[in-house]
Amino acid sequence: MRIGVPKEIKNHEYRVGLTPPSAAELVAAGHEVIVETQAGMGIDFEDQDYVEAGARIVPDARAVFAESDMIVKVKEPQAGEIALLEPRHTLFTYLHLAADKPQAEGLMKSGATCIAYETVTSDSRTLPLLKPMSEVAGRMSVQVGAHYLEKEQGGRGVLLGGVPGVAPARVAILGGGVAGVNAAQMAVGMRADVTIYDINNDRLAELDMFFSSQIKTAYASKAAIAAAVRNAHLVIGAVLIPGAAAPKLVTRDMLPTMKRGSVLVDIAIDQGGCFETSHATTHDDPVYEVDGVIHYCVANMPGAVARTSTFALNNATLPFALRLANLGAEKAMAADRHLAEGLNVSGGKIRHRAVAEALDLPFN
Ligand SMILES: NC(=O)c1ccc[n+]([C@@H]2O[C@H](COP(=O)([O-])OP(=O)(O)OC[C@H]3O[C@@H](n4cnc5c(N)ncnc54)[C@H](O)[C@@H]3O)[C@@H](O)[C@H]2O)c1
Repeated sequence: MRIGVPKEIKNHEYRVGLTPPSAAELVAAGHEVIVETQAGMGIDFEDQDYVEAGARIVPDARAVFAESDMIVKVKEPQAGEIALLEPRHTLFTYLHLAADKPQAEGLMKSGATCIAYETVTSDSRTLPLLKPMSEVAGRMSVQVGAHYLEKEQGGRGVLLGGVPGVAPARVAILGGGVAGVNAAQMAVGMRADVTIYDINNDRLAELDMFFSSQIKTAYASKAAIAAAVRNAHLVIGAVLIPGAAAPKLVTRDMLPTMKRGSVLVDIAIDQGGCFETSHATTHDDPVYEVDGVIHYCVANMPGAVARTSTFALNNATLPFALRLANLGAEKAMAADRHLAEGLNVSGGKIRHRAVAEALDLPFN
């Protein structure tokens, strides 16, 4: 199969669909890999790295789409890219169609087979192609939280880990899933005083076993969250109700009870946010203040560490990309129901029930 990798064109997106090592794996399996010039430039992958991996460099996205059967990307296709899609193409990337009707209609019109990373499933009932980005965002949340707690950044002037003779900062993590656990690992590593709140008691028991005495766990009742928010220096929102908007766990009226200069990091902002006062921000202008509390609500946190994120994403996507290339999209999905769950659009129709329902379009 001919596999194309265009340069990402969304603002501030430096990730790339295939790393040079992933391209080499596909070439070794007998496929042709076609990469737009400078596709990986933002994260220091030179064209020469792709050439050494056995890929071919072409001058623009038009050539990538014209010469490829499958397109591997990171972000949802932009209007100019959708215009280049044809019925013969398989598109493998994040789509997030449920909140993007114009994109869904564009993909339907293209006739292409569009497989979304975010709806591919696994036996363990997780979303394996979302997981790496939750790992990155969870780990980053503590890094940015510690940064904004610094006085010069408008924060309270508190060191996350304290020092001998001075107590560490208190970190409350709402949601003990993938992002929450990764946040906890970083916060524990920095010697903060960490509590994880969740409503899933089995999950709380697992966390208790996993972290032992390094953290505390608590059931996420309204009262427990109100008390947590009052006492914490850093609150990390990492909840997820699959397919639904994030619940507003920290309400507007809780903010005046918080310490001035404390920090809220809302990882769940891509699902609407779990703090009532959250609104999405960008890496250009990541924070704002409400009642003296700093809010960090960047919707694509992994973009800030684009090199790590690209490798992490490739680790998860490559096995699926190989299967799609080896068998062709139709046979690969027939052989793997988890990959088939990734199918969102094909032949001009919406093929994913939840996406169809969210967009109020017919499901086929
Ligand atoms: N901002 C970003 O750049 C970025 C990047 C990756 C992921 N995310 C988002 O991070 C969030 C977490 O993702 P994840 O992969 O860790 O999800 P996950 O499913 O692994 O974990 C979510 C956890 O939230 C818990 N939960 C649900 N409702 C709750 C409630 N009312 N109170 C307390 N806990 C509750 C669940 O029991 C679960 O343990 C998602 O919204 C995801 O979209 C954001």
